[in-house]
Amino acid sequence: MLDTDFSRLPDPGPEVFTAPLNKPAHVGADWLEPAQHAYGPDEDAVWDELFARQLQILPGRAASAFLAGLDKLDLGRGGVPEFGRLSEELGALTGWSVVPVPMLIPDHVFFWHLANRRFPAGNFIRSRDSFDYIQEPDVFHDVFGHVPMLADPVYADYMQEYGRAGWKAMRYNRLKALGALYWYTVEFGLILEEAGLRAYGAGILSGPTEAVYCLEAQSPNRIMLNVDRVMRTDYVIDDLQPSYFVIDSFQELYHDTVERDFDRLYRSLAPGFTYANTAVIDIDDVLHRGTQEYGLRGGRGSGAKPV
Ligand SMILES: [Fe+2]
Repeated sequence: MLDTDFSRLPDPGPEVFTAPLNKPAHVGADWLEPAQHAYGPDEDAVWDELFARQLQILPGRAASAFLAGLDKLDLGRGGVPEFGRLSEELGALTGWSVVPVPMLIPDHVFFWHLANRRFPAGNFIRSRDSFDYIQEPDVFHDVFGHVPMLADPVYADYMQEYGRAGWKAMRYNRLKALGALYWYTVEFGLILEEAGLRAYGAGILSGPTEAVYCLEAQSPNRIMLNVDRVMRTDYVIDDLQPSYFVIDSFQELYHDTVERDFDRLYRSLAPGFTYANTAVIDIDDVLHRGTQEYGLRGGRGSGAKPV
C-alpha cells in the first residue's frame, strides 16, 4: 500500500480493525449519497433553531477561527445549507468540498475523503425529540460544527494531512490511536487565545451544554496537548468529556502532528489505550486539574449537573 497514492480508495485488508458498519444498498464503495436530501420546511426550521441557539452561546466561547468561518460561509441564511453552493464557497477559500453520506462511514473511507479535501456530512437532520443529544452525527453537527473550521487555511491543511495519516495508521493497525487524536482535537479541542480559552472542536460547538462545560465547569481536566500522550488516552463517546486538551495555535497543531515521525510512535504504541480518560499523569502540563465531580455523580442519565 503506497502512502502517496490518495486517488484510489484504500483496501485496509482483513487484518485491520474497522467498526463493522452495514453499507446501505444505494451507496457505492465511496459511501457517497447520489444527491443531498431535499429538506422540508420542518427540517429547515430545526436547522434554524439549532443555529440560533448556538449563536446565543458561542460568542466568547468559540475559537475566533470558527466564528470567522461561520461568518465567511454565512451558514445562517436560513435552512440546511445546499452543499453545491457551500462547496463552491468553501472551495474558493481553501479547496475543500462538502459531500453527503448516509451515516457514520468506515474509517478508511472517511480518511480517503479527507485526504482528497472532501468533508463527508450526514444526509439527515435530527428530530425535535433528540434536539440536545444524538448518537449519529447529523448535518447540523457535521456542517455547523466542522465546516467553519475548514475555512481556516492551516486547519484545512491539518484535516487533509489527518486523512493521509490514516494510511499509515492502517498499515500499523493503529486506527484507534489516530482516532483518539481526532477526538481530542477535531471533535473536542480547546485553544488558548489571547483573550482566553476557546473551543474549536465540533463535538463541543454543535451543542449547548458542552460549549459551556468545557470552558467553565470545575469537573474536567484541561491539559496542554501532547500528541504521544493523547494517542494513548481512552475517550468516551456518549457523555461530556472528563479531560480536554489545549493547543496554543493551529500552526503548532499542524507541526506537532504532520511533521513528526509516526512510524516510531506507532511501533511503540500498545494496541489498547494506556491512560484512562480521567487521568492526569506526571508529564502533563495542566491548566486546570478537574474535580471529576460530574462523572463521579454518575454522568449522563444520572441527573448530575455539568459542573
Ligand atoms: Fe464530528
